[in-house]
Amino acid sequence: MAAQIIDGKEIARKVRERLIPRVANLQQQGVAPCLAVILVGTDPASVSYVTAKERALAEVGMTSRDIRLPADTTEEALLEHIRDLNGDPAVHGILVQLPLPSHIDEERILMAIDPAKDVDGFHPLSVGNMVLGRKTFLPCTPHGVLVLLRELGIPTKGAHAVVVGRSNIVGRPLANLLSGKDINATVTVCHTGTRDLASFTRQADILIAAVGRPHLITADMVKPGAVVIDVGVNRVEDPQSKKGYRLVGDVDFDAVLQVASYITPVPGGVGPMTIAMLLQNVLEAAESRLGPVCR
Ligand code: GUN
Repeated sequence: MAAQIIDGKEIARKVRERLIPRVANLQQQGVAPCLAVILVGTDPASVSYVTAKERALAEVGMTSRDIRLPADTTEEALLEHIRDLNGDPAVHGILVQLPLPSHIDEERILMAIDPAKDVDGFHPLSVGNMVLGRKTFLPCTPHGVLVLLRELGIPTKGAHAVVVGRSNIVGRPLANLLSGKDINATVTVCHTGTRDLASFTRQADILIAAVGRPHLITADMVKPGAVVIDVGVNRVEDPQSKKGYRLVGDVDFDAVLQVASYITPVPGGVGPMTIAMLLQNVLEAAESRLGPVCR
């Protein structure tokens, strides 16, 4: 039997819907939750991600401050923008879209963001708090994957989760969160140095692909009945398409569909969840400004 295709758009819509009364509550108190979004350069994928994030904010009644800078912006000029936004009480969250041009030190930029406004969860303080299991802004894509699993009622306790990829944005934090006491999965992390990748992926009850290589995960690499979460977003040439390309994940979707129990599509799987969790973080940044929140 073919796998159930996970409708990330629908689950993300449910998450967003739960935010709307909380946004209204803040608005009644005179607070308009606001995310500053900085994009350096004009990378087409980054432009489309940033546009999607800003549109989603507006849809739930939050605002964004859109800061687009030329690709040759200096590190110092970017830091100056961040310092201004750190000190601006009308701004609750700051997001610097990655990747940055190679002449800019990404780590220095992320460390300059006030941790209270770090809605991406990329600041070392946020990462440290996450690893220690303390309350903090969780990075949006890993958090979105956890919420997907929870909303679908997929059992994680004692499950073997295999994460393919060790990026700071997805693989590393996701592996860490999955091994936490509340999720309680047994986690294996695979990466470019892994010998015989398939021998690991075949053991996964939950297989997460986050490497950025189209169709890396083939059907023979998946245990029958596994849950397959595809975080990859890759543009591949497609002369048939109007844009000249189409988006595919890291998983050979059509083939793996026949083996897995659940599978996320690309697009329409993890992507919408990333945005929903970003909105939640911005809202929580704005709520926490009003003092301790009782929920
Ligand atoms: N680039 C790819 N994913 C992300 C993300 O979640 N946040 C930011 N800031 N940049 C990204």
